[in-house]
Amino acid sequence: MAKSETVGEHLRRHGISRRAFLKFCAVTASAMALPPGAGKAIAETLAKQQRPNVIWLSFQECTGCTESLTRSYAPTIEKLIFDVISLDYHETLMAASGEAAEAAREAIIKDYPGKYVVMIDGSVPVEGGYATIGGKSMLDICKHTVANAAAVVCVGTCSSFGGIPYANPNPTGAKSISMLMDEGLVPRKPLINVSGCPPIPVVITGVVVHYLSYGVPELDHVGRPKAFFGQTIHDRCYRRPFYDQGKFAKTFDDEGARNGWCLFELGCKGPTTYNSCATTKWNDGTSFPIESGHGCLGCSEPNFWDKGSFYAPLATSESGGVYGLGAAAAAGVAVGVGAAIVSRNHQKKLQEGK
Ligand code: SF4
Ligand code: SF4
Ligand code: F3S
Repeated sequence: MAKSETVGEHLRRHGISRRAFLKFCAVTASAMALPPGAGKAIAETLAKQQRPNVIWLSFQECTGCTESLTRSYAPTIEKLIFDVISLDYHETLMAASGEAAEAAREAIIKDYPGKYVVMIDGSVPVEGGYATIGGKSMLDICKHTVANAAAVVCVGTCSSFGGIPYANPNPTGAKSISMLMDEGLVPRKPLINVSGCPPIPVVITGVVVHYLSYGVPELDHVGRPKAFFGQTIHDRCYRRPFYDQGKFAKTFDDEGARNGWCLFELGCKGPTTYNSCATTKWNDGTSFPIESGHGCLGCSEPNFWDKGSFYAPLATSESGGVYGLGAAAAAGVAVGVGAAIVSRNHQKKLQEGK
């Protein structure tokens, strides 16, 4: 088995400056809300480590998660993640195809048992033989590859919670990786869910860097790192002062919308959605859906596709669930506050195992 080079050796060999690497680690540490100086400590830890082998498996997905991490018109700091890890198998990005590609995946499984990391986008169809790669079912590939892995990182809502393929009526019997582990269909391994449809690039890189530097981060009740999913969009939304004043846009082109008022009554799911879009933002910190004038769809939450209309306001039910009901719009602030509190209480109870 050939010994992997360290991250530091790899960076030097590829002419990547220490300054650029420090900036990458500082951006990542800041996104995780780590204290000042943590970026330098992460850089020193990572530089000494061997680059971990990573197998990226794509199942029922749209490639949006891979696009999120890689697609930009200019090189971004996030791309440095590909120097930190050794991405040995990724069907969309690798040059090899066919038997050579399959052999590359098998070589990592055989040569680095218990050491490689599996990153997965897409959910797995378990019924009807809907999808095969190289003649093998996605379920068999998942089971075989995860069996010897050190850890699994689910990238996106599809692999984390089932996502769009899992949405009613779920014709392929799609399941998330945690569902497969819970049902014993895939061996249980340390699992981190990085949800979002797609997830924010710096969140993906932040989670990988945290895992390599400190191990599995602290997770919430659905397996998401609390550093990125510990608060709702609503908790940090810049339109929140309008919400608190009861100023709501009623249509996408009314005066309230032009004034940047709260989008709650246009269906924003920010009060019940845990993600860091409002602070980390997208495209190098440029913007996020609400800043572009559209409510949050709740894309990082389980079952977000089946929770009713994206354009109906949230409402609380007597049973404590949260539903989208057009009539609730009239209740305005009171309902919004209720939805946020119910969501938070619900999450707390789940965390406490009640
Ligand atoms: Fe595509 Fe969204 Fe699924 Fe990612 S989570 S593969 S972006 S549908
Ligand atoms: Fe922001 Fe939506 Fe909350 Fe309004 S309801 S403050 S737009 S997250
Ligand atoms: Fe998704 Fe809402 Fe962020 S729709 S991208 S979690 S603002």
